[in-house]
Amino acid sequence: MEFRELIRERYSVRQFDPRPVEPELVDKVLEAGRLAPTAVNYQPQRVLVLDTAEDMAKLAGCNKYTLHAPMALVVCYDRTVSWKRSYDGHDMGEVDAAIVATHLMLAIHDLELGATWVGYFDPETLKSTFCMPDSIVPVAIFPMGYPAAGAKPAGHHDKRLDLAQTTVRHSF
Ligand SMILES: Cc1cc2nc3c(=O)[nH]c(=O)nc-3n(C[C@H](O)[C@H](O)[C@H](O)COP(=O)(O)O)c2cc1C
Repeated sequence: MEFRELIRERYSVRQFDPRPVEPELVDKVLEAGRLAPTAVNYQPQRVLVLDTAEDMAKLAGCNKYTLHAPMALVVCYDRTVSWKRSYDGHDMGEVDAAIVATHLMLAIHDLELGATWVGYFDPETLKSTFCMPDSIVPVAIFPMGYPAAGAKPAGHHDKRLDLAQTTVRHSF
């Protein structure tokens, strides 16, 4: 799909067909994340693939937004790997993970799959459920799969501010 069309047509898919996603397609999505830029190219992202019924039952036990999807990706970063800005010690891991997550999200839609970026979860419950070491920080969960036949964007999907409301020129 042409890029401008892709970013215009993408929406958060919240209704899924139960059929599984072919592993080759999952690999293509993961490859899009692998190509994402990260600070100093440190590549701190760690993407957890949950693709069995057992995995999804565990995810449902710690997060209400599994959306009955057949599988999910959990984008994390390792804070022992991510770049820290020397001026203020700011950890760029979350930015890196968000860029990786955006690549995944766009690849998912390019492959005519669907997903919703889920940020509403209890990180400690998620970490303990999937045995994440202390250094791993989960950033986003993507329940994903083939969109259900009647899947459609939520009502607020089209409500974007005008450019003039989000663009600042020269100075705040
Ligand atoms: C950082 C982030 C966190 C989000 N968390 C959730 C969430 O926990 N649950 C949910 O249903 N949608 C979540 N969303 C999806 C947004 O609600 C959605 O992207 C937004 O309303 C715009 O709709 P659209 O994706 O259909 O364009 C999240 C999106 C982002 C970028």
